[in-house]
Amino acid sequence: MEYFIFSGNSNTVLTQEIGRQLGKELGKVEIVRFADSECRVRILEDVEDKDVFVVQSLFNPVDEHLMELLLLGDAAKRGEARRLIAVLPYHGYARQDRVHREGECLSAHVVAKLIESVGFDKLITVELHNETILGFFEIPVVHISGLSVFLPQVEKIKNEAVVITPDAGALKRSQKFAESLDIPLALIEKKRDLDKPHKIISMKVVGEVKDKIAIIVDDVIVTGGTLVNAAHLLKQKGAKQVIAAATHADFVGGADKILQDSPLDKIWVTDTIPVPEERRFPKLQIFPIAASLVSGVKKMIK
Ligand code: R5P
Repeated sequence: MEYFIFSGNSNTVLTQEIGRQLGKELGKVEIVRFADSECRVRILEDVEDKDVFVVQSLFNPVDEHLMELLLLGDAAKRGEARRLIAVLPYHGYARQDRVHREGECLSAHVVAKLIESVGFDKLITVELHNETILGFFEIPVVHISGLSVFLPQVEKIKNEAVVITPDAGALKRSQKFAESLDIPLALIEKKRDLDKPHKIISMKVVGEVKDKIAIIVDDVIVTGGTLVNAAHLLKQKGAKQVIAAATHADFVGGADKILQDSPLDKIWVTDTIPVPEERRFPKLQIFPIAASLVSGVKKMIK
């Protein structure tokens, strides 16, 4: 089956790597930004009756990246693509997966409906904040684990390791990870101030971490606050090393400096979101995700 892969502007390096591993050149596309910031997209290939994959990571500036994805989808649909597949290495808005307080919107649901409304037939994505989002989609979703790329590293230290879940919401993910490696699990109880974005009120460790290598497993790093606070606590409780393993590096502000200067010994992330050279730091290790996405794509084109 003939197919095309198109890249939005968010992570062209990753899309090129996906194309390279599939032995496929990326489809030609024109993405223009007008002076008033509106975006216009034009697909420069004949996609009629072909499968079309649109790769776009929905990180900061998330609304711009989302809009490009939707417009690329619409252009492919108007070109009469056979099947239209959104490949989202990072699914933005995923943390707004429930109504926390009266009067709030349900953003992850809105994004799911937008993706479906332009005609995407399927979604391939990596390490969602919460699997409940799968239920927001009518179309099938292939949900790839981002944490699996860290497994070979963890195997080397598993006898001394304890997996840490950084908050109650992340329990299922951490449990699965710990069980797959037969490693014990400890929990951090984190309370956030819902009136102040990114503000953590308190944290408490439940479980044994003394003299262990504590591996904090998370979906995304944004300010670094969750991990840095957790690392302080874990070191206080006697952990001999603290490693963060988080799939998406959506660094904002001074997250790079905060993480480098923290008690964390290593920070493992994947390249679902590109980390520019100037924001990389010695404790950061970036693991490639392309092969996992390629296996998702291959299942559809065989
Ligand atoms: C929270 O529920 C998420 O899973 C992450 O732990 C959180 O979003 C990370 O954000 P930050 O780095 O700003 O603490």
